[in-house]
Amino acid sequence: MTARPPYAGTRYPKLAEIPAFTEWIAGGWEDRQVAPTIPEGSATAAAAHRDRLSARFPGQTLVAAAGTAPTRNDDSVYGFRADSSFVWLTSCQVEDAVLVMWARDGGHDAVLYMPAPFRPGDAGFFSNALHGELWVGPSAGLAEWADALGVDVRPLADLESAAGGDALATRAAAPLLAGVESSSELERELSKLRMIKDAWEIEQLRGAVDATVSGFAATAAEIPRAIAEGTGERWLQGTFDRHARTYGNGPGYSTIVGSGAHAPVLHWVRCDGPVVEDAALLLDMGVEARSLYTADVTRTLPASGSFSAAQREAHDLVEKAHRAGLAQIRPGTEYLDFHFAAMEVVAQGLSDWGLLPVSVDEALSPSGQHHRRYLACGIGHHLGLDVHDCSQSHYEDYMGAQLEPGVVMTVEPGLYFHAHDETVPPELRGVGVRLEDDVLVTETGSDVLSDALPIDADGIERWTRAQRGDA
Ligand code: GLY
Ligand code: MN
Ligand code: MN
Repeated sequence: MTARPPYAGTRYPKLAEIPAFTEWIAGGWEDRQVAPTIPEGSATAAAAHRDRLSARFPGQTLVAAAGTAPTRNDDSVYGFRADSSFVWLTSCQVEDAVLVMWARDGGHDAVLYMPAPFRPGDAGFFSNALHGELWVGPSAGLAEWADALGVDVRPLADLESAAGGDALATRAAAPLLAGVESSSELERELSKLRMIKDAWEIEQLRGAVDATVSGFAATAAEIPRAIAEGTGERWLQGTFDRHARTYGNGPGYSTIVGSGAHAPVLHWVRCDGPVVEDAALLLDMGVEARSLYTADVTRTLPASGSFSAAQREAHDLVEKAHRAGLAQIRPGTEYLDFHFAAMEVVAQGLSDWGLLPVSVDEALSPSGQHHRRYLACGIGHHLGLDVHDCSQSHYEDYMGAQLEPGVVMTVEPGLYFHAHDETVPPELRGVGVRLEDDVLVTETGSDVLSDALPIDADGIERWTRAQRGDA
């Protein structure tokens, strides 16, 4: 038997308490300069966003924070994704960073507080798994961040003494500051300001949509393999998520892949079923760009390359509602006009099929809504840094507002006939269809950013067959 080493049985030492070790590890490192990674043009866009916010809150100190990823276990944390309003104001995605816009006469002074990386010579270099460069790699320092962002950047430790009692804080920032409560007034104003996208943001959204379109193609190309796999929905989900991670920051929301009876389930994110060849396959997927702007697109494909008669009938009605909705997107219409237009088509179609227990007018009235049994969700929303962007707004600023150039929104009517819904004929049970496009309101009308993907049944069949590699 091998003899135990002489130090066996002694309490294992902490590295930071061993002078020989700390001295040895402090030296012998080449100096590594790391530039912050921020999307081109983002710092200029963020500075303009701060100016817009500043004008809304004269004399009021404002605080926003990136947030902190929750711990999963010990020093394993869930993936970090910075708070959207913080990113809108800073273009910075550093975990734990805090922006204070200090009120001064005639405006605000922006100061960004962030944790400095632990470098060789700091104890945290080898002992701090979150900010030690031995653990997370060489990282940009505060001076480099100040350079890249054009704002004053200070150590996070300075924040405590700095931020005072009457500041307004975002939801993410409030817990960091003693005595400061989260301000719904600030959240609402940020939501409202974020509704109108500037040229740089529109460029980001176009990029996110383009990457999503290529992600749809990559995913559809895997349909034959997904049919062959036991859990083909997962295979497709994984395919899109890998694409999103490679060409963007990742999926902008939980990817939905629903085959057959799963397609009518609105948030089918379990994706643990097979891909059935003769069933309709609903794909709701969006790439979030590195700038964190996201797309949100849905197509319903025939997995085999050909829709059944019932699937096609459902798709045709959804397409008609979609076109009616899109036709309402232009400056000056009210936000809900697209919703009313699409719902009228849906209610009439369902009535023609004998599915409504009341007249179309009665169903459409605010005290009816019977058609919504088959479409119980919203059919559009603002889109931007969040998939459901600007959701903290007042009703009057969102649902009750007029559309303006620079708004980006989705239009996404659908029909959802659940497999166990006894009110629909057997051929429609287990059929779910959604058509979702991302639309920019322009000066003269609208621009469908996701129109590289077809919306008509014939076009979708041709497109699906091409991706599947069918002759
Ligand atoms: N994918 C979420 C939505 O369509 O709203
Ligand atoms: Mn959506
Ligand atoms: Mn969607």
